[in-house]
Order: sequence, then C-alpha cells, then structure tokens
Amino acid sequence: MKIMVVGGGGREHAIIRKIRENPRVTEIYALPGNGGIARDAECVNIAATDIDAIVRFAVENRIDYAVVAPDDPLVLGCVDALGEAGIPSFGPRKNAAILEGSKVFAKDLMKRYGIPTAAYETFDSLDRALEYVKKAALPIVVKADGLALGKGVVICETREEAEEALVSMMRDGRFGHSGDRVVIEEFLTGPEVSVLAFTDGKTVVPMVSSMDHKRAHDHDEGLNTGGMGTVAPNPYYTREVEAQCMQEIFLPTIRAMQQEGRPFTGCLYFGLMITPKGPRVIEYNCRFGDPETQVVLPLLTSDLLDIMMATTNGTLSEVPVTFADRHACCVIMASEGYPQHYEKGFAISIPEDIADDVYVAGAALRDGTLVTSGGRVLGVTAVGDSLQEAIRDAYRKVEKIHFDHAFWRHDIGQRALKAGE
Ligand code: AMP
Ligand code: GLY
Repeated sequence: MKIMVVGGGGREHAIIRKIRENPRVTEIYALPGNGGIARDAECVNIAATDIDAIVRFAVENRIDYAVVAPDDPLVLGCVDALGEAGIPSFGPRKNAAILEGSKVFAKDLMKRYGIPTAAYETFDSLDRALEYVKKAALPIVVKADGLALGKGVVICETREEAEEALVSMMRDGRFGHSGDRVVIEEFLTGPEVSVLAFTDGKTVVPMVSSMDHKRAHDHDEGLNTGGMGTVAPNPYYTREVEAQCMQEIFLPTIRAMQQEGRPFTGCLYFGLMITPKGPRVIEYNCRFGDPETQVVLPLLTSDLLDIMMATTNGTLSEVPVTFADRHACCVIMASEGYPQHYEKGFAISIPEDIADDVYVAGAALRDGTLVTSGGRVLGVTAVGDSLQEAIRDAYRKVEKIHFDHAFWRHDIGQRALKAGE
C-alpha cells in the first residue's frame, strides 16, 4: 500500500514510524515532511495547507490511504477534497473539524448537549466584550474563536489585561479573522490531562492518557509553547475519572456531533481539566496532539494503520486497540529563544543507536547534514516499566544529542512523578 501523511512535525514522524510497522505498507510519502522524517519516508515539497497540490499528488501517485495530521488542512477541508478525488483518509471532514476550528462552535455544542466545560459568553462586538469584563470575576480567560497557532488563549489576572487581550484580538486583528469573535470564560483550576481518542463517528476508543508541559521553562515558567514534553499515562487520570469522562464527555461529544450531522472521524483530542467539581473540557482538537503523540503511539501495541482505516470505514468496534502497560516520556529539544525569536541552521548530531527514539520536528537537510530549522527541533522518547525509568532514559538520550543553542526543560514528568507517589 502507498500511504501519504500530510504534515511535517514530530507528531507526523511518530505516526509514520508506527504506520511503517504494518507489513502491507510499501511506500510512505510525507508532505512536506522534514529533514529527519526523510529517514523514514519520502518527503515531497508540498505545503500541508496547499490542498489542491496535495490532492493532485495523491491522485497522480495512486495513494491508497492518506493521513491528514495538522489542524489547518483539516479545518480547510483536506479530507473532503481527497474523498472527492476517491482517496480515503484519516481525519475529520471540514464540518467536523470545526470542533477545533471554532471555539464558539465547540462551546455552544457543549452547552446544548450538557457536556461539562467552563461557563462562558461569546462576543462579536468589542464594546460588549469590554462591558462584560468590567463586572466579571477574576481571573478570566479570553479565547480567540479560530485557529491561532496555540496562542489564542489569554489568562487574565486583571481587568486591564483582559481589555488589552480583547482589543488586540478584536480591533487590532492580532490573529486575523480568528479574533473577530471571542469566548470569555470562567477560570478553572486543577491538573490537566490530554486524552486522544480514535473514533469512526459512532464508536470512540480512548488511547492512553498523557500530560503535556506547555510552558517554555522549568517549573512551568516562561511563555506558553506548543508543548515542551509529555509523559504517558497521566496519573491524574484515574479509573474513576476515566469512567466519568467516558460517560459525561467522550460518548456525549461523539453523539452530539452525529446528531448535528457532523460525524467526527479520526482522532479527537480532549483537553481536560480535572477540577474539584469533576472533569471539564478545556478544548477539543480535531487531530493528534504534538508532542502527546510521541508518547502515546510508542505505547500502542496494535496496528495503527488498521485502526486508522477502521475509523474511515466505520468498523472501529471490530479492530483491537491495545496499549502496553508501561510508561513513556518525551523531552523536546528546542532552539534557544523559542517560542519567540531563535536562530536556525545549526548542525544536529544524533548517535545512530538512539536515532529511532528521536522524532524530528524542525530540521532540514543541508548538503546531507541535518540542521535546525524550527523552534521545536526534535523530541526524544523513552519507554520504561516505570515513569521514573522512562524519564531517566529520555534524559540520558537527550544528553547524547547536540546542536548549538539547544535548550530543553529539565523537569518533564516531575509533576506526574509526585502525583503518582
Ligand atoms: P488551549 O490553547 O485552549 O489549550 O489553552 C491553553 C491553556 O490555557 C490550557 O492548556 C490551559 O492551561 C489554559 N486554559 C484554557 N482555558 C482555561 C480555563 N477556562 N481555566 C483555566 N485555564 C485555562
Ligand atoms: N500539545 C498540544 C496540542 O497538540 O495542541
């Protein structure tokens, strides 16, 4: 089978490695992939948002199955376009990807179907939003409606901060049209848990839970990033919480989307907060998380491609989805200065004996040498029988990898370790 994976980050690298385990797979193309993914797939220089070029490539190369991994092509309708060209693919159609594409849609859906989430109001008028925050309880959370590269959420401790966030989103167009509408919501507290789930629109099968570390620096200091490291499973996701999430959140969400005529297929990412009043949905993503995927898929003991195809065919209830009863840790090595300004082009050295545990996110090949080309450069994953072992091994491997101006957090998994004690 010829497989095509749209995207080019660490998440896509992890997906490609896992898909390659299926014996029927003969070729894997990555669009655009990256310099590290080139070890495991043929990279094709087509941007993940160039839907026309993606479809043309898939047709010309007789792709049997496509995996659309990032949010933008999903929200733009890549799965629909491939489907019209006769190519089956993994991921939601445009009318279901809106669950991530519009926070107003997601919040209104949860309200209509009684799915637990933070109390909120939506606004498309700056004046009314400003009026509202004058009286609202603090802290308060301001969210741009549309996709904003993970930066569209501002936790405001003061009214001035809230006013500033609203003006920058709604008047100054900081996130383009993504900020035309905003959600203003109640501030919740509690540990966060990421749960990725396979779904064919009817059946939902949660994967092993995970914990992301979003801030750039140790002890959760510094700016928010796309994610600086992950561990799986997440100790806050107890059996009790798991059962509650299934009944109150996962199944109701899948049913709600079905009832709305927007059946969701692919991977649905539940960003949860375990509050004193129970689990609440913080956000939905319409795709695998990055770097959650880099700890979840290494623990998957069944065939990823078979599961993916079953989500497309509506036969998810018939395929095994099993995970090893072990632990995984992924540490992201980034370029100094990320998530703001950083320099690129530094040579990366990765010893061959650990190369298969490295998922490359932002690196390019220059004259045959791998060089940094992004903020998050790569993720290093280790699997162990205990969380402690997974963390220790991940950091041992990190120490063996070198590039100039590398930085990483030193405390990935520490909070999970304490919670598990
Ligand atoms: P998001 O981009 O939606 O994942 O939000 C980024 C981060 O903001 C989340 O991971 C949470 O840590 C935080 N956050 C979002 N909404 C809330 C909320 N209602 N209360 C507290 N923290 C929040
Ligand atoms: N790691 C968070 C995300 O993928 O959105």
